[in-house]
Amino acid sequence: MTEVQRPLGSYPTTRLRRTRQHAWLRALVAETRLSAADLIWPLFVHEKDEAEPVGSMPGVERLPISGVVKAATEGAALGIPAIALFPVIDSQHKTADGGHALDPENLTCRAVRAIRAATGDAVGIICDVALDPYTTHGHDGLLEQGRILNDETVAVLSQQAVVLAEAGCHVVAPSDMMDGRVGGIRAALDAADRDDVSILAYAAKYASAFYGPFRDALGSHAALDTAKALGVADKKTYQMDPANTAEALREVALDLDEGADMVMVKPALPYLDIVQRVKTTFGVPTLAYQVSGEYAMIQAAAANGWLDGERAALESLVAIRRSGADAILSYFAPRVARLLAGSTP
Ligand code: PBG
Repeated sequence: MTEVQRPLGSYPTTRLRRTRQHAWLRALVAETRLSAADLIWPLFVHEKDEAEPVGSMPGVERLPISGVVKAATEGAALGIPAIALFPVIDSQHKTADGGHALDPENLTCRAVRAIRAATGDAVGIICDVALDPYTTHGHDGLLEQGRILNDETVAVLSQQAVVLAEAGCHVVAPSDMMDGRVGGIRAALDAADRDDVSILAYAAKYASAFYGPFRDALGSHAALDTAKALGVADKKTYQMDPANTAEALREVALDLDEGADMVMVKPALPYLDIVQRVKTTFGVPTLAYQVSGEYAMIQAAAANGWLDGERAALESLVAIRRSGADAILSYFAPRVARLLAGSTP
């Protein structure tokens, strides 16, 4: 074997590998940091007394109210600032108009009150504003003759936001993509003397295949499929076309104009260009949602031994932060928070 020769001649003055040699040095020059404080933990709450696994989201469970209270407390102990609550509504409470969304005794409101009673203001409680958990057809708005009505839906969502605020949620997060809903919700909250409640707008929410497992978790999949088979509207008539960027910026501009305090891009990893454009264009608090399908892909590959799930989770979250996201909704939140704290998840 010939000896490897160090070539004579000119050597590079700058060697970028020099700062990659040691873990401490890599940490020193890291441009992006990920900490538990950047994470929001989405939680599913259901009416049952026991936790129940979500088949397409290994590691995620639908929890009873006591379970979400416990999770919120654990999350806070891990340094996770906020949770996002998603209710699994029993089918007997689902109607075409999703009226149960306005019932102050519904599952969401009871869960919010319980979390608030246990944690006060120590944990941020973020609630989705949309009708899909409550409608028989699984759509986010009111359906009439195969179409999702816009302004009528905004009127209901504005009431839903007030009901959630009264239950004690700190942040309402409209995820419905109706035009004008942020303005409607802000006006309704202010009129109800709830100017303390923030709005996190799902501003650029794309009509994405990556929401599949979430709809399993909520049980709205089957309903949506039936609706589709009947030829009624699909979510593409209100959620954004994955092909569009300029339109995302217009969505964000409108939501900010209407009073959004924070904006969100969703999904996250396939839309990092959008996150970056939103952050650099507007300079406002910009969140990204690493959605159920993004989580499921990593978990499925990891379960097959095809990739290192923990490393993939961390890498994806760092990448989302690098693109400009201030905070990330992620089902990995508790696991990653534990990893970052150096304890075994
Ligand atoms: C519905 C809603 C969805 C998600 C959050 N809120 C699904 C949808 O629009 O059909 C998706 C979250 C995820 O996939 O993790 N208002």
